[in-house]
Amino acid sequence: MKRVLIIGATGLLGRAIIFENKNEKIEIIGGYFPDKKFKTLDLLEKKYFLDIRDKNLLKEIIRKENVEIIINCASLANVDYVERNQEEAYQTNFVGTKNIVDLCREFNVKFVQISTNAVYDGDNPPYNENSERNPINYYGKLKVMEEDYVMENLKDYVIVRPILMYGWNDELERENPFTWQLRLQKENKEIMLVDDIYCNPLLVNDCAKIILKIIDKNLNGVFNIAGSEIVSRYEFGLKIAELTNYDKSKIKAVPNSYFKEIAPRPKNTSFDIIKIRKVLNYIPANISQGIEFLLDFRKNEINR
Ligand SMILES: NC(=O)c1ccc[n+]([C@@H]2O[C@H](COP(=O)([O-])OP(=O)(O)OC[C@H]3O[C@@H](n4cnc5c(N)ncnc54)[C@H](OP(=O)(O)O)[C@@H]3O)[C@@H](O)[C@H]2O)c1
Repeated sequence: MKRVLIIGATGLLGRAIIFENKNEKIEIIGGYFPDKKFKTLDLLEKKYFLDIRDKNLLKEIIRKENVEIIINCASLANVDYVERNQEEAYQTNFVGTKNIVDLCREFNVKFVQISTNAVYDGDNPPYNENSERNPINYYGKLKVMEEDYVMENLKDYVIVRPILMYGWNDELERENPFTWQLRLQKENKEIMLVDDIYCNPLLVNDCAKIILKIIDKNLNGVFNIAGSEIVSRYEFGLKIAELTNYDKSKIKAVPNSYFKEIAPRPKNTSFDIIKIRKVLNYIPANISQGIEFLLDFRKNEINR
């Protein structure tokens, strides 16, 4: 069984990979940050506090655990936070990734880097793996620098570009569009959602399953990963409301300009997902299937 270090293991994607490794195809060693009592850590036998800016610590873990593959899910991933805190983001996202890449080269470790749809400008969808990258915010620019560093320095690498992901997060981690909306619905709030930004939202469990398939088949290269349906954030929110029996009149459509956001947002970064359909024979969920999966998942968890 391959020994896989997942960095950012308690985040939305890291946690989903741990859940989806049900048949234990890989042996997972989790790296978490910061040092909090994440519930997700209960699912792991082997776990280490790990800050990717600390190369020595990373080296020690790779050596001690004989790591064969690293999946880097760690990142400052809030686009506005990154725009406002550029030096911190540079150190974490770029230098942190560079540290991992340098050690992968030294120890002959396969590397899976998680990138983003924000490498595209959003003006020419749909985007496939060969589309031109042209980021319009600092988060996207750093991801392009990270991708380039990976491609220039490693042979055995995978770059996964997920689009907007939704799913159950550890309660100590940041929310995503799904859990954020459920919280506002609990508070009986009106919910403002933009109707002029589009993408094909991705159930995080689909992303996790695809990454596990890529590892299982020992593939390399770049994979754009998205769900099967293109919607605006408003349409996405309406679907969540419908499937959770929330009053749909409380979901309001607004233009992107309504929010005083710091970082520019690409208008439409929808992906063409032909590669994952062809190479991996995988069809990700559409919105209804994704939300129903999550609602069932929680019901089953509560009933256990
Ligand atoms: N979620 C999306 O919609 C989406 C879409 C496209 C791409 N992505 C990319 O996918 C990857 C996973 O995203 P996610 O949603 O799972 O993110 P997430 O839930 O925010 O998890 C990221 C994890 O990385 C940790 N981290 C931050 N700084 C670190 C450091 N110096 N050393 C080690 N860990 C550190 C975070 O800790 P803190 O909580 O303390 O920051 C968090 O636990 C990221 O690269 C993200 O950019 C995400």
